[in-house]
Amino acid sequence: MWKGRFQTDTAPAVKHYGESISFDWRLYRHDIRGSIAHAAALEKAGILTPGEKQSIESGLLAIGAEIDRGEFDFSIDLEDVHMNIESALTRRLGSTGAKLHTARSRNDQVALDLRLYLRDEIDAISSGVRALQSVLVGLADTAGDAVLPGYTHLQRAQPVLFAHHLLAYVEMLERDLGRLADTRTRMNVMPLGSGAIAGSTILLDRELVARLLDFPSVTRNSMDAVSDRDFACELLAALALLGMHLSRLGEDSILWASSEFRFVTVDDAYATGSSLMPQKKNPDVAELTRGKTGRLYGNLLSLLTTLKGLPMTYNRDLQEDKEAVFDSVDTARAALEVMAGMISTLTIHPARMRAAADDANLLATDLADYLVLKKVPFRDAHEIVGKLVALAAARGCGLRDLTLPNFQSVSPVFEADVTSVLDLDASMPKRAAIGAPAPDNVRAEIARWKKALHA
Ligand code: ARG
Repeated sequence: MWKGRFQTDTAPAVKHYGESISFDWRLYRHDIRGSIAHAAALEKAGILTPGEKQSIESGLLAIGAEIDRGEFDFSIDLEDVHMNIESALTRRLGSTGAKLHTARSRNDQVALDLRLYLRDEIDAISSGVRALQSVLVGLADTAGDAVLPGYTHLQRAQPVLFAHHLLAYVEMLERDLGRLADTRTRMNVMPLGSGAIAGSTILLDRELVARLLDFPSVTRNSMDAVSDRDFACELLAALALLGMHLSRLGEDSILWASSEFRFVTVDDAYATGSSLMPQKKNPDVAELTRGKTGRLYGNLLSLLTTLKGLPMTYNRDLQEDKEAVFDSVDTARAALEVMAGMISTLTIHPARMRAAADDANLLATDLADYLVLKKVPFRDAHEIVGKLVALAAARGCGLRDLTLPNFQSVSPVFEADVTSVLDLDASMPKRAAIGAPAPDNVRAEIARWKKALHA
């Protein structure tokens, strides 16, 4: 492509060092779509005749179909996807094909292709997030009023509905969707026409190109447009957070499936065995999701680091954006798919959950609230209940085994109605504030999510 200026061929090692076709070939559909829109602008500017524009379009579509069928020969001599496709076109069409790259550089071309590609990927990832939300809401619905201990510091804290725990993840995923949508909006600006750095002396209708490619607007500064990868960083950041959420869901699932908890059983299809220990059934899907979150973080850091010292404008370093972006997109899509499969096939064990939750110590805060309602200041109530918990522990029993005189020995405020406070089923509906896990609230939240996810 630069044969005019150079006397010797590129060194073989440099070809291998610099080629990106081995991974950027996956941009081919978007590259072709962008080139067809560019050809329309060239036609409007009188650079291409209508006939030439038509043959470029059919030539590009034929090349796309060849790639689809796996029959296209990508060559590292042609470095990247842009030059492979352009050169195939010129092989087909001769001088007509050689006109396509007028008023365009690979610098604005790759900026366009990446935006087009990532726009589609964001849509696919967002559907994956929606699907996982539906699975979580479905399981919450199945779980009904199943109650389990909620944990802080991984110590039993207060009883919650299992459905409430699942809906916490639905909320996280909703924020992920918001970040993906925001990223898409900022990404959705058309850079073609920026040329290598300074546009072109040949004036093209950039807004026509934007309309043909479904962009609501065009970039306003050619230097920014060819050097900007903010949109890729934003996406990698959004995917890092999504990965963190999936990792935490994985970690919760691993705990729930352990013999110590036994709140759920992972389906055989989403578990693996041990090559040595015949009894083992391991939650590898959840573990791999937790592990792969490391790559999502790494890809973000890798791209940020690539960008930080670059002088304006395009520098070849920018080619290093692609593998990070592709890996994060692939990892996120795969993780969403397998996690949805694993969650949708979980067997839950409400009786085990309840046995763990039905420990009166988990209602110690309810007991303090009982005293507060009898006008004891909360700090005093906290201390009184703390003494009762210590008393029960010293006797090797639970709070429910203490007698009314025991209670009254610590505070005279206790009356016979104290026993009703330590009833798990009676305590759940009291957590009725917006966002708290009273069964009626949780049912309403499930209904709200079902409606939202259906819409
Ligand atoms: N493969 C290159 C990339 O991914 C395309 C742009 C190359 N531009 C250039 N002037 N070498 O960034």
